[in-house]
Amino acid sequence: MPATVLVGTQWGDEGKGKITDLVSGDFDCVCRYQGGANAGHTVIANGHKLALRQIPSGIMHEDELAVIGNGCIVDPEVVIGELDTLQGQGISCKGLRISGNAHIVMPYHKVLDGAHEQKLGKNLIGTTKRGIGPCYMDKMNRTGLRMQDMLDDDTFREKLESALAYTNPILEKVYELPTYTVDQICETYLPYAERLRPYIVESSKLLNEMLADGKDILFEGAQATLLDIDHGTYPFVTSSNCTAGGAATGSGVGPTNINRVLGIVKAYMTRVGSGPFPTELSEEEGVGKFLLDKGHEYGVVTGRQRRCGWYDAVIVNYSARINGLTDIALTKLDVLGGLDTIKVCTAYECDGVEYTTVPEHQSIFRSAKPVYTEVPGWKEDISGCKTFDELPQAAKDYIELIEKLSGVRVSLVAVGPDRNQTINRFWN
Ligand code: GDP
Ligand code: IMO
Ligand code: MG
Repeated sequence: MPATVLVGTQWGDEGKGKITDLVSGDFDCVCRYQGGANAGHTVIANGHKLALRQIPSGIMHEDELAVIGNGCIVDPEVVIGELDTLQGQGISCKGLRISGNAHIVMPYHKVLDGAHEQKLGKNLIGTTKRGIGPCYMDKMNRTGLRMQDMLDDDTFREKLESALAYTNPILEKVYELPTYTVDQICETYLPYAERLRPYIVESSKLLNEMLADGKDILFEGAQATLLDIDHGTYPFVTSSNCTAGGAATGSGVGPTNINRVLGIVKAYMTRVGSGPFPTELSEEEGVGKFLLDKGHEYGVVTGRQRRCGWYDAVIVNYSARINGLTDIALTKLDVLGGLDTIKVCTAYECDGVEYTTVPEHQSIFRSAKPVYTEVPGWKEDISGCKTFDELPQAAKDYIELIEKLSGVRVSLVAVGPDRNQTINRFWN
């Protein structure tokens, strides 16, 4: 193989958790390379339903390693909560490893996230308020604390003291908020350190040793291409590199080890939070309401209703380019069943000019009006289909249209949330 990247191609929630859990049986290790507790990945298998925010979705396979890479930021409270939940369900989590270089989400990051959003007023990003932006800001500013700092109490205290010397004046003077003391944070974080200590490792070394031993690694992306800090709809994005290239920097594995990039593509579009969304439909009536209800489009982390719209081939095409996709896993195809016709956006019209690629300038993209092709729908319930041949002709045609418009083969098709509800066409 040896390393494969699995990446979201739209605005998140494409079903990355389900597909990671499904394909990870073929790998020796699943590694998350960016993001933090803003992710919400749903896994349904063996009668268990889990919503994972920090621990890689491959954790369900007990004989594999589940690595939180250096590009991630770690909320210790969330990781410990997930460990408790998983272990309560009889999953040992013995394969969990956390990079010593991953940054720690501190209580003030979450407070600053909320306060900044409030200051933005009507221009707010609609973040998950998990402290993502402020934690990555501290990383880039070189004022952050890392998991390795948790290994020694004195080092943790010392680094926290200098971090607070920088952060407290911001809390107080910019946001008029209470400040923190070292003792106050240590009271909760030092016990967290005790619990997480056994999992903290030099993960880049570990991953490279695995590759040298001929082992296979799956990199599980969180968020998605259009939420990437460089390639997404900035500023309505998250603060990390979600795209496939991020897997190399976020894990310390050289890009030459990666030979497959599996893009997770939802059969329609959704988005949570603010920002442009050309194919968005009304949430109150018609197809928008149909997708919201039938697709249960509510956030795993925040419970927020997701904005829904028709499939946007311009966006998936852009994702194929940015990520170098080799395969697509098409998800939630079952949700489209019952519609008379289905629309697919093949271009945008922006102030009288037609675009077949995502315009680089945000001001142009904001005004994009979708140009649609309309294709026949199907009435059958496809959630029990096990092969491509069992699908109704209109569903087969829809899959082939997506292949044609993206230039990438659809190797897996998900027709329901369970691990078993998946059609394997070309994935091996
Ligand atoms: P992720 O963030 O990309 O892992 O996706 P989420 O877990 O946030 O959202 C995807 C939702 O769709 C979850 O509730 C999944 O259980 C569900 N899901 C995944 N694949 C399918 C599918 O093929 N059909 C249906 N009906 N639901 C699916
Ligand atoms: P998964 O991995 C969907 C969105 C937020 C907001 C923007 C910035 O489950 O696909 P942040 O808290 O990251 O600073 O928020 O990004 N967002 C997601 N949307 N799925 C996610 O994760 C998301 N993680 C962040 O709604 O618009
Ligand atoms: Mg999600």
